[in-house]
Amino acid sequence: MEYDFDRMIDRRGTHSAKWDKMEDVYGVPNEDGIPMWVADMDFHAAPPIQRALDEMRRIGVYGYYGDDESYLAAIQWWMRHRHGWRVEAESIFTTHGLVNGTAMCVESFTAPGDGVVLMTPVYHAFARVIRAAGREVVECELSLNDGRYEMDFDAWDAQMTGRERMVILCSPHNPGGRVWTRAELEGVAAFAKRHDLILVSDEIHHDLVYGGATHTPMSLIEGVEDRLVMMTATTKTFNIAGTHSGNVIIADPDMRNTFAARMAGLGISPNSFGLVMAEAAYTPEGAAWVDALVTYLDGNRDILDAALNSIPGVKSMKMDATYLGWVDFSGTGMTPEEFTRRVEKDARIAVNHGPTFGKGGEMFLRFNFATQRPILIDAMQRMRAAFHDLQ
Ligand SMILES: Cc1ncc(COP(=O)(O)O)c(C=O)c1O
Repeated sequence: MEYDFDRMIDRRGTHSAKWDKMEDVYGVPNEDGIPMWVADMDFHAAPPIQRALDEMRRIGVYGYYGDDESYLAAIQWWMRHRHGWRVEAESIFTTHGLVNGTAMCVESFTAPGDGVVLMTPVYHAFARVIRAAGREVVECELSLNDGRYEMDFDAWDAQMTGRERMVILCSPHNPGGRVWTRAELEGVAAFAKRHDLILVSDEIHHDLVYGGATHTPMSLIEGVEDRLVMMTATTKTFNIAGTHSGNVIIADPDMRNTFAARMAGLGISPNSFGLVMAEAAYTPEGAAWVDALVTYLDGNRDILDAALNSIPGVKSMKMDATYLGWVDFSGTGMTPEEFTRRVEKDARIAVNHGPTFGKGGEMFLRFNFATQRPILIDAMQRMRAAFHDLQ
């Protein structure tokens, strides 16, 4: 089946965080700015998801959700077929997204004042929820070798104080798009064991992997079952992040009880829209859509890389996964204020600022390229014009 990812969809004035808040957040005008920040895509959701919503609309009653057997079976099917991972139904929790899942892990498995290790630069919401819970963020910086991020366990070991209780892995990594190798994941497992840390693996980007790279779920690495929390979701893969739903998957029964108690204490129960859409997504038809989507995004990745790398001093990181380009401006000789000003004021593009991702992000901006090609091409022309004096 052909999918029309080029089809233009006007999202302005639809309560879209990405399109309707760029002026408030970055001063980029909503009327003619291009939003390349918030991590959602500008494409229609997959046909099976649309049909599931049509069916809900046909019935027209939007009551409480129950009987999750087929929903859990759909998750099991997806993880087995797409990721070679067998999940037990009783290990699956449904949260209000993975930021919510992360926050509940922090609350469940650490105490105020404990340290939570992040490999920075990394997805900014992790640090936000850790700090909001009164825990300490321990930033272990990734090394940049030959233009890609690598882990430096020797340096990280030396940083540990004994107060750390948890490490959060982002796999594939956001930003920078690394798909970690099995050896690297084994290194993370050994690090977690060495320092007796709960290991939370956020794998929300696991389906958006480009040819040549293979994502390995952390759950396939031996020896961490008794300290591992897996987090997955349909939301990034299928562009349904507004449903605010995701899965926290815990194999260890004791950890599962602790997490279940926390969820019960917070009164968390599922949003029926998210679960109905997730079940419709995790099907062979949904899988075919994802394959086509990744091919389209791969083409966008090439356009972004070619355009930005043609500007002297600007370097877009080579990515294995995600639609979030991570772009290094250090070679321009400009200050972060200056290159950010050019992107926001001259090019009128809203992007995520590197420092929000923690140590190592200072000279970077993050560009979401999951949009229609004509929009992406317009953005790249604006970028060349904004930095024309360097060319
Ligand atoms: C690594 C990572 N985790 C979680 C999220 C957001 O999760 P949710 O919308 O389910 O809270 C994002 C969004 O960009 C992300 O990149």
